[in-house]
Amino acid sequence: MQLQVRKIEAIDAPILASLARQTFFDTFTGTCTEQDMQEFLVEYFNEARIKSEILMEGNFYFFAEVDGVPVGFLQFMEDYSGFPEMKKWKALELKRLYIQHAFHKQGIAQFLMDFILNYAQENKYEVVWLGVWEHNERAKRFYAKYGFVDSGHTHDFPIGSTPQTDNWLWKFL
Ligand SMILES: CC(C)(COP(=O)(O)OP(=O)(O)OC[C@H]1O[C@@H](n2cnc3c(N)ncnc32)[C@H](O)[C@@H]1OP(=O)(O)O)[C@@H](O)C(=O)NCCC(=O)NCCS
Repeated sequence: MQLQVRKIEAIDAPILASLARQTFFDTFTGTCTEQDMQEFLVEYFNEARIKSEILMEGNFYFFAEVDGVPVGFLQFMEDYSGFPEMKKWKALELKRLYIQHAFHKQGIAQFLMDFILNYAQENKYEVVWLGVWEHNERAKRFYAKYGFVDSGHTHDFPIGSTPQTDNWLWKFL
């Protein structure tokens, strides 16, 4: 198995949109109504929106590829809009980390996590932070293994009409 990280380009928008829809659905299906889910997928993971995010200055998207095939992706950005308290530091937001279900537990998530942490260290960030759904136990366990801890702050992350709460986690470097 050959594992590599590849920067996502605008031409990859259809593949990224499809992977993002599939992994979001697999992660959160059953936690909201089917209608809320379908509307969320269309609104946030349509190709045009994904393409504009790929092209956005300062936004970083990377695939994890196994033997040249994308099986997961990572998005990060220096963006304080979701959690303005972070302006006290030079802070990097891990916005999305999604791996296809069949590739969990295989070190692929670790590969992407090591990638962003290296990036953060090389670029002199003081802290990396992220939002995780309060009941996403697998992800919370994964982040805990990397030393992310609960900041004590939360934010609303509704899926359509279904209210959900995310915890902000952080890891000081
Ligand atoms: C979160 C994610 C990136 C982690 O990658 P992974 O390859 O599954 O990670 P690992 O298997 O190394 O670690 C998961 C840990 O959670 C544990 N775990 C799994 N299910 C669990 C559960 N229901 N409750 C508690 N812990 C759980 C695993 O045993 C493992 O811990 P261990 O190494 O101590 O045994 C991956 O699962 C994923 O892409 N999930 C779907 C998308 C997602 O939730 N992204 C994060 C959004 S914030």
